[in-house]
Amino acid sequence: MCAQRPAIAVLCSGDGTNLQAILDAVQERSLRARVVLVISDRPHTKALARAAQAGVSAQYFDPARYATRERYDQALLDACETHRVQLLCLAGFMRIISPVLIRRYPHRILNIHPALLPAFRGAHAIRDTLAWGVRVTGVTGHLVDARVDHGPILLQEAVTIQPDDTEERLQARLHKVEHRLYPQAIRLVLGGHVRVVGRKALISL
Ligand code: GRF
Repeated sequence: MCAQRPAIAVLCSGDGTNLQAILDAVQERSLRARVVLVISDRPHTKALARAAQAGVSAQYFDPARYATRERYDQALLDACETHRVQLLCLAGFMRIISPVLIRRYPHRILNIHPALLPAFRGAHAIRDTLAWGVRVTGVTGHLVDARVDHGPILLQEAVTIQPDDTEERLQARLHKVEHRLYPQAIRLVLGGHVRVVGRKALISL
Protein backbone atom coordinates (compact mmCIF):
# COMPACT_ATOMS: atom_id res chain seq x y z
CA MET A 1 0.00 0.00 0.00
CA CYS A 2 1.11 3.60 -0.74
CA ALA A 3 2.22 5.60 2.32
CA GLN A 4 -0.03 8.58 2.97
CA ARG A 5 1.02 11.78 1.26
CA PRO A 6 2.56 14.35 3.64
CA ALA A 7 0.17 16.94 5.07
CA ILE A 8 0.80 20.63 4.42
CA ALA A 9 -0.68 23.78 5.97
CA VAL A 10 -0.54 27.02 3.98
CA LEU A 11 -0.64 30.35 5.84
CA CYS A 12 -1.90 33.34 3.86
CA SER A 13 -3.13 36.89 4.36
CA GLY A 14 -4.38 37.84 0.93
CA ASP A 15 -5.03 36.66 -2.59
CA GLY A 16 -3.45 33.24 -2.25
CA THR A 17 -2.14 32.85 -5.79
CA ASN A 18 0.78 30.88 -4.36
CA LEU A 19 -1.68 28.77 -2.38
CA GLN A 20 -3.47 28.13 -5.68
CA ALA A 21 -0.20 27.10 -7.35
CA ILE A 22 0.40 24.60 -4.53
CA LEU A 23 -3.18 23.29 -4.74
CA ASP A 24 -2.83 22.92 -8.52
CA ALA A 25 0.49 21.08 -8.22
CA VAL A 26 -1.10 18.68 -5.72
CA GLN A 27 -4.12 18.22 -7.96
CA GLU A 28 -1.91 17.57 -11.01
CA ARG A 29 0.16 15.17 -8.88
CA SER A 30 3.38 16.98 -9.67
CA LEU A 31 3.58 17.54 -5.89
CA ARG A 32 3.12 14.47 -3.74
CA ALA A 33 1.41 16.05 -0.76
CA ARG A 34 -1.99 17.02 0.66
CA VAL A 35 -2.99 20.55 1.62
CA VAL A 36 -5.01 19.82 4.75
CA LEU A 37 -5.31 23.29 6.27
CA VAL A 38 -5.28 26.93 5.14
CA ILE A 39 -4.86 29.56 7.83
CA SER A 40 -5.52 33.27 7.41
CA ASP A 41 -4.97 36.16 9.81
CA ARG A 42 -7.54 38.19 7.87
CA PRO A 43 -11.21 37.41 7.30
CA HIS A 44 -12.89 37.01 3.90
CA THR A 45 -9.70 36.73 1.86
CA LYS A 46 -9.44 35.24 -1.60
CA ALA A 47 -7.07 32.67 -0.12
CA LEU A 48 -9.80 31.40 2.23
CA ALA A 49 -12.21 31.21 -0.72
CA ARG A 50 -9.67 29.25 -2.77
CA ALA A 51 -9.23 26.79 0.10
CA ALA A 52 -12.98 26.31 0.49
CA GLN A 53 -13.28 25.83 -3.27
CA ALA A 54 -10.65 23.10 -3.11
CA GLY A 55 -12.41 21.43 -0.19
CA VAL A 56 -9.61 22.24 2.25
CA SER A 57 -10.26 23.28 5.85
CA ALA A 58 -10.00 27.10 5.84
CA GLN A 59 -9.59 28.79 9.20
CA TYR A 60 -9.42 32.47 10.11
CA PHE A 61 -7.54 33.29 13.30
CA ASP A 62 -8.17 36.86 14.45
CA PRO A 63 -4.95 38.28 15.96
CA ALA A 64 -6.99 40.69 18.09
CA ARG A 65 -8.29 37.75 20.12
CA TYR A 66 -4.85 36.76 21.39
CA ALA A 67 -2.84 38.71 23.99
CA THR A 68 0.57 37.85 22.56
CA ARG A 69 2.19 36.62 19.37
CA GLU A 70 3.11 33.41 21.19
CA ARG A 71 -0.50 32.69 22.18
CA TYR A 72 -1.60 33.33 18.63
CA ASP A 73 1.02 30.97 17.27
CA GLN A 74 0.05 28.38 19.90
CA ALA A 75 -3.49 28.46 18.48
CA LEU A 76 -2.09 27.95 14.97
CA LEU A 77 0.09 25.15 16.28
CA ASP A 78 -2.92 23.45 17.91
CA ALA A 79 -4.79 23.58 14.57
CA CYS A 80 -1.74 22.16 12.77
CA GLU A 81 -1.43 19.36 15.34
CA THR A 82 -5.13 18.54 14.96
CA HIS A 83 -4.62 18.18 11.21
CA ARG A 84 -1.32 16.30 11.67
CA VAL A 85 0.50 18.88 9.57
CA GLN A 86 4.09 17.99 8.63
CA LEU A 87 5.11 21.13 6.73
CA LEU A 88 4.06 24.79 6.93
CA CYS A 89 4.14 27.07 3.90
CA LEU A 90 3.96 30.81 4.38
CA ALA A 91 2.42 32.32 1.26
CA GLY A 92 1.96 36.04 1.68
CA PHE A 93 1.39 35.62 5.44
CA MET A 94 1.92 39.11 6.83
CA ARG A 95 2.91 38.14 10.35
CA ILE A 96 6.20 37.30 12.01
CA ILE A 97 6.35 33.68 13.11
CA SER A 98 7.39 33.15 16.74
CA PRO A 99 9.66 30.40 18.12
CA VAL A 100 6.52 28.55 19.28
CA LEU A 101 6.00 27.37 15.69
CA ILE A 102 9.65 27.30 14.65
CA ARG A 103 10.61 24.99 17.54
CA ARG A 104 7.84 22.53 16.69
CA TYR A 105 8.64 22.59 12.94
CA PRO A 106 12.43 22.95 12.66
CA HIS A 107 13.42 23.41 8.98
CA ARG A 108 9.83 22.55 8.13
CA ILE A 109 8.48 26.07 7.57
CA LEU A 110 8.94 27.57 4.10
CA ASN A 111 8.47 31.07 2.73
CA ILE A 112 8.52 32.63 -0.70
CA HIS A 113 9.81 36.18 -1.10
CA PRO A 114 9.56 38.50 -4.14
CA ALA A 115 13.23 39.58 -4.20
CA LEU A 116 16.68 38.05 -4.19
CA LEU A 117 17.40 37.80 -0.47
CA PRO A 118 19.18 39.14 1.46
CA ALA A 119 18.34 42.19 -0.67
CA PHE A 120 14.99 43.86 -0.11
CA ARG A 121 13.62 42.06 2.91
CA GLY A 122 10.27 43.06 4.35
CA ALA A 123 6.69 43.62 3.30
CA HIS A 124 7.33 46.06 0.44
CA ALA A 125 10.06 44.25 -1.45
CA ILE A 126 8.76 44.98 -4.96
CA ARG A 127 8.21 48.68 -4.29
CA ASP A 128 11.63 48.94 -2.63
CA THR A 129 13.30 47.13 -5.53
CA LEU A 130 11.88 49.54 -8.09
CA ALA A 131 12.67 52.57 -5.94
CA TRP A 132 16.30 51.47 -5.62
CA GLY A 133 16.71 51.19 -9.37
CA VAL A 134 18.24 47.71 -9.48
CA ARG A 135 18.32 46.02 -12.91
CA VAL A 136 17.79 42.47 -11.72
CA THR A 137 15.56 41.15 -8.97
CA GLY A 138 13.94 37.76 -8.50
CA VAL A 139 12.31 35.25 -6.21
CA THR A 140 13.65 33.43 -3.17
CA GLY A 141 12.24 30.27 -1.63
CA HIS A 142 13.71 29.74 1.82
CA LEU A 143 13.35 28.01 5.16
CA VAL A 144 11.98 30.17 7.94
CA ASP A 145 13.96 30.93 11.07
CA ALA A 146 13.34 33.37 13.91
CA ARG A 147 14.33 36.43 11.82
CA VAL A 148 12.26 37.96 9.03
CA ASP A 149 13.18 36.84 5.48
CA HIS A 150 16.40 35.38 6.85
CA GLY A 151 16.45 31.55 6.91
CA PRO A 152 18.55 29.24 4.69
CA ILE A 153 17.90 29.71 0.98
CA LEU A 154 16.52 26.78 -1.00
CA LEU A 155 15.95 28.27 -4.44
CA GLN A 156 16.42 31.58 -6.19
CA GLU A 157 15.61 32.73 -9.69
CA ALA A 158 16.43 36.06 -11.28
CA VAL A 159 13.92 38.34 -13.02
CA THR A 160 15.11 41.26 -15.14
CA ILE A 161 13.56 44.64 -14.47
CA GLN A 162 12.25 46.48 -17.54
CA PRO A 163 12.60 50.27 -17.86
CA ASP A 164 8.82 50.74 -17.96
CA ASP A 165 8.04 48.37 -15.08
CA THR A 166 5.33 49.29 -12.62
CA GLU A 167 4.78 47.45 -9.34
CA GLU A 168 1.88 45.57 -10.93
CA ARG A 169 3.80 44.48 -14.03
CA LEU A 170 6.84 43.38 -12.09
CA GLN A 171 4.67 41.59 -9.56
CA ALA A 172 2.94 39.66 -12.34
CA ARG A 173 6.30 38.40 -13.68
CA LEU A 174 7.55 37.57 -10.18
CA HIS A 175 4.32 35.70 -9.43
CA LYS A 176 4.83 33.47 -12.45
CA VAL A 177 8.24 32.47 -11.14
CA GLU A 178 6.93 32.06 -7.57
CA HIS A 179 4.18 29.72 -8.70
CA ARG A 180 6.74 27.42 -10.28
CA LEU A 181 9.41 27.74 -7.58
CA TYR A 182 7.22 27.20 -4.52
CA PRO A 183 6.03 23.67 -5.38
CA GLN A 184 9.63 22.88 -6.34
CA ALA A 185 10.90 24.05 -2.93
CA ILE A 186 8.24 21.97 -1.17
CA ARG A 187 9.23 18.92 -3.22
CA LEU A 188 12.85 19.31 -2.16
CA VAL A 189 12.01 19.45 1.55
CA LEU A 190 9.38 16.70 1.52
CA GLY A 191 11.64 14.51 -0.61
CA GLY A 192 14.33 14.69 2.09
CA HIS A 193 16.77 16.41 -0.28
CA VAL A 194 17.64 19.28 2.08
CA ARG A 195 20.22 19.24 4.86
CA VAL A 196 20.82 22.42 6.82
CA VAL A 197 24.38 23.20 7.84
CA GLY A 198 24.77 26.51 9.63
CA ARG A 199 22.87 29.01 7.55
CA LYS A 200 23.17 26.96 4.37
CA ALA A 201 20.61 24.58 2.91
CA LEU A 202 22.55 21.82 1.15
CA ILE A 203 20.55 20.14 -1.57
CA SER A 204 21.29 16.62 -2.79
CA LEU A 205 19.17 15.10 -5.52
C1 GRF B 1 3.98 36.91 -2.92
O1 GRF B 1 4.52 37.83 -3.81
C2 GRF B 1 5.04 36.38 -2.00
O2 GRF B 1 6.32 36.44 -2.54
C3 GRF B 1 4.97 37.33 -0.83
O3 GRF B 1 3.61 37.66 -0.72
C4 GRF B 1 2.97 37.54 -1.98
C5 GRF B 1 1.76 36.70 -1.79
O4 GRF B 1 0.99 36.63 -2.96
N1 GRF B 1 5.52 36.72 0.34
P1 GRF B 1 -0.23 35.63 -3.05
O5 GRF B 1 -1.16 35.90 -1.87
O6 GRF B 1 0.31 34.24 -3.02
O7 GRF B 1 -0.90 35.96 -4.34
